[in-house]
Amino acid sequence: MNFRLLPVAAALAAAAFASSALAADIKIGAAEALSGPAGQYGQSIKNGFELAAEEINAAGGVKGNKIALVFEDEAGKKEQAIDVFKKLIFQDKVVMLFGPTLSNSAQAADPIAQAAKVPVFGTSNTADGITSIGNYVFRNSVTESDVLPETLRVAIKHNTIKKVAVLYGNDDVFTKSGYDAFKKALETLNVPVTTTETFAKGDVDFKAQLTKIKASGADAIVLSALMAEGAPIMVQARQLGINLPIVGGNGMNSVKVFDLAKDKSDNLWVGSPWALSSESKENQHFVVGYTKKYKAAPDQFAAQAYDALNITAAALAKIKLTGNIEADRTALRDALPGVTHTGATGAFKFRQAMGKDGKPAGYDAQQAAIVSVTKGGKYIIEK
Ligand code: ALA
Repeated sequence: MNFRLLPVAAALAAAAFASSALAADIKIGAAEALSGPAGQYGQSIKNGFELAAEEINAAGGVKGNKIALVFEDEAGKKEQAIDVFKKLIFQDKVVMLFGPTLSNSAQAADPIAQAAKVPVFGTSNTADGITSIGNYVFRNSVTESDVLPETLRVAIKHNTIKKVAVLYGNDDVFTKSGYDAFKKALETLNVPVTTTETFAKGDVDFKAQLTKIKASGADAIVLSALMAEGAPIMVQARQLGINLPIVGGNGMNSVKVFDLAKDKSDNLWVGSPWALSSESKENQHFVVGYTKKYKAAPDQFAAQAYDALNITAAALAKIKLTGNIEADRTALRDALPGVTHTGATGAFKFRQAMGKDGKPAGYDAQQAAIVSVTKGGKYIIEK
């Protein structure tokens, strides 16, 4: 039977006939963008999960049961995210899902998990509204609304910024949400906007927008973009002689910016609960383990995935798995909100999110942001 092609209700009915015996392994699905324009985020996320699973399993697993991650590539496309969610839920019978990587895909695929009563845990979705989908939806990625006001505040403190130009992708859930959050924060800070320019996914030439921005007399560019468009925007801005600070959202907070924008990657301001140089013992343990395993430094996406699997393991340790997959999924859902954890990204707890109807829905991350600026291929923390 091809579960990918079935609507949710039919697939649920079909799954009810399938065996639900508990294997010794605890199967957790991870649907991430392992290829395509968002692939750099997904690869970091996969590395973070694999490192955490290796450590948890080496320490005996969860009450003797090993964590088995089942990865699927959703390629940063919402249709593919829906397909692999169905496969992981109905065919692989995972107890929980991580992913998808982009908010754009999460908004489309998370309702599948919610309808099937499978916990879904985003480690990189930062658009508003994802957790309003329902009570099975969790994330430890801090929202743009929570981070951007702090990023702007710190950027303004360190630069002379009296007015800004805004540039954002208008066809993506995350970049649009970032735009809304920036707009609100700029209003609160009383910073006028000289011009607002847009682009679309897949665009490669941003010179028209950047030329208008240059002429507008802005002191900084506020940019809500994913890396695929954001990195060439940085390069082309610098080529046009625009050496202004660029204030970005979560999509710009990846070490990939140094590979893609090279010597044009300086003066990018971003916020996140995690910083490579954070000296907590939990972060040092993570950074050392990651660097040893992958021969490269981690980024925020790896750190959040690493913490998310540890948060999940703590929830799994609180419940008794029965082998009845539906019961186990619900028990895990019920255990997750109460977990607190100190990991690579610092102290973490969940915060209740509200649904569109104003009633309690899923769970967001409650964490403070650290703001950094890029310089010479490194992130430097600024306060
Ligand atoms: N934070 C980005 C998103 O939510 C990756 O799509």
